[in-house]
Amino acid sequence: MMNVVRKSISSAIRSTARRATLATSTATKDIKTGEKSEAIYAKEQKYGAHNYGPIPVALSRGEGVFLWDVEGNRYYDFLSAYSAVNQGHCHPKIVGALKEQADILTLTSRAFYNNVLGEYEEYVHNLFGYDKVLPMNTGVEGGETACKLARRWGYDVKKVPKDQARIIFADGNFWGRTLAAISSSTDPSSFAGYGPYMPGFGTVPYNDIDALEKELQNPNTCAFMVEPIQGEAGVVVPDDGYLTKVRQLCDKYNVLWIADEVQTGLARTGRRLCVDHDNVRPDIVVLGKALSGGVLPVSAILADDPVMLTIKPGEHGSTYGGNPLACKVAIAALEVLEEEKLAERADRLGKVLRKELSELPKDMVKTVRGKGLLNAIVINEKVDAMDICLRLRDNGLLSKPTHGDIIRFAPPLIMTDEQMQECISIIKNTIMEFV
Ligand SMILES: Cc1ncc(COP(=O)(O)O)c(C=O)c1O
Repeated sequence: MMNVVRKSISSAIRSTARRATLATSTATKDIKTGEKSEAIYAKEQKYGAHNYGPIPVALSRGEGVFLWDVEGNRYYDFLSAYSAVNQGHCHPKIVGALKEQADILTLTSRAFYNNVLGEYEEYVHNLFGYDKVLPMNTGVEGGETACKLARRWGYDVKKVPKDQARIIFADGNFWGRTLAAISSSTDPSSFAGYGPYMPGFGTVPYNDIDALEKELQNPNTCAFMVEPIQGEAGVVVPDDGYLTKVRQLCDKYNVLWIADEVQTGLARTGRRLCVDHDNVRPDIVVLGKALSGGVLPVSAILADDPVMLTIKPGEHGSTYGGNPLACKVAIAALEVLEEEKLAERADRLGKVLRKELSELPKDMVKTVRGKGLLNAIVINEKVDAMDICLRLRDNGLLSKPTHGDIIRFAPPLIMTDEQMQECISIIKNTIMEFV
C-alpha cells in the first residue's frame, strides 16, 4: 500500500485523480460513512459558529499516524491536533484505560476524594520531580491557573503591594483564547475587538534577554511566562542558552518562571519536556494536549510546595479537573510516552525530517526549523502556503499553514522510519510540483 501511495505521487497527477487513487487503494467498507464531505462542510457552515477556517477535509476515523475522511481517503496526519496526539490516534492503551474507567467512575467533583486522583498525582510527581500537581482540563485553563498562582505567590511571598502584580509574556506568545490569554497576545487576530484587557500584563520580544531583564527589575513583576519554542507563532526556536539565561534572571530578581509546555512538552521536541534540552527547571510547568493523547481535555500545572501551597482550599478549582476518568487516561498517556520511548523517536526522526527538507530549493523553502517532531518550513512568498497544504492533502498528507507563509510539520511521535521516508517523499514531491 505504501508503494501505491509513493508511486502515485507525480507532478502529472492532480487532485481529483489523486483522491480517486487514494480512495480505491485504501478504502474499506467500514471506513466509508456514506456521507459526503461537501454535506459535512455545509452543515457546519449553517449551524456552527464561524470561528474556524478548516482545511476542506471531513475526517471520520483515526488510527496511529493515519486519518481517513468520509469518502475513505487515507492521510498521514502531520498536525497531530496541534500536538495533542503525540501517542497516535486512538492509542489502544489510552483508549483501553478510558473504556475501563468509564464503566467504574467518571466524575465526583472535588467535593469528595476519588480513588484515582492521588494515584495520578503521585505518578506525575515521580515522573517530573515537582512536589505537587494541580489538575485542570484545557491548556488555556492551565495557563490561567499558572498566572493566578504566580500572582498569589507574588502577594503572599514576594510581598508585591495589593493589586500591583505584573506578569511578563513574550511577543508572539499563544496560550489560548480566554480574556486573560488574549490580553497577553501581540497578534491582532487574537486580541482585537475583545477589550478591555487584563491589567498587570506586559510583553517583551521573544529571545531578547536584555529586554526581559529590564522588566524583571520592576519589583512588582512576579512571573515571566514563556514557551520554550513558540508553537503557534510558527515554531520559533530561541537561541541556544536563552532558557538558561531566563532561569538565571528569574533567580536574580526573585521572579517565577512559568514554562508553557502545552505544545512543546511530553516528548514532542525530543525530550520529555522541551526545557530538558537545556537542563533547566522552571518554577511552574503548564502541561496539556498530549497529557491525554488526544482523548479528553486534560491539563495540569506542576510546582513545588512554596509556590503551589499559596493557593488554599476553596480558592481555585474546576468541576472536571482531576476527575477519575481523565486521571486514568493521563496515566496511560504518560506511560505510553515512556514505554514507547517517544522522546527518543521524535528526536531521531526530527533530525531526518529537517535534513531532508533542507535539501529543497531555497527559492521554494526559505527556512526549515524545529526540534524533535515540532517543525516548520517557511515558504517563499511566490507560493501560497495554503495552496501547498491543499496539494499535500490531495497527495495524502494533512498539515496546516500559519501566518500565511509557514507550514508546521508535527506528526504523531509513533511514526516508523519507513512512514517518515514516505512522508518526506510526499512533501518533497508536492513542493517540487510548484517549482
Ligand atoms: C503553547 C500553548 N499553550 C496553551 C494552549 C491552549 O491550549 P487549549 O487549546 O487546550 O486551551 C495552546 C494551544 O494551542 C498552546 O499551543
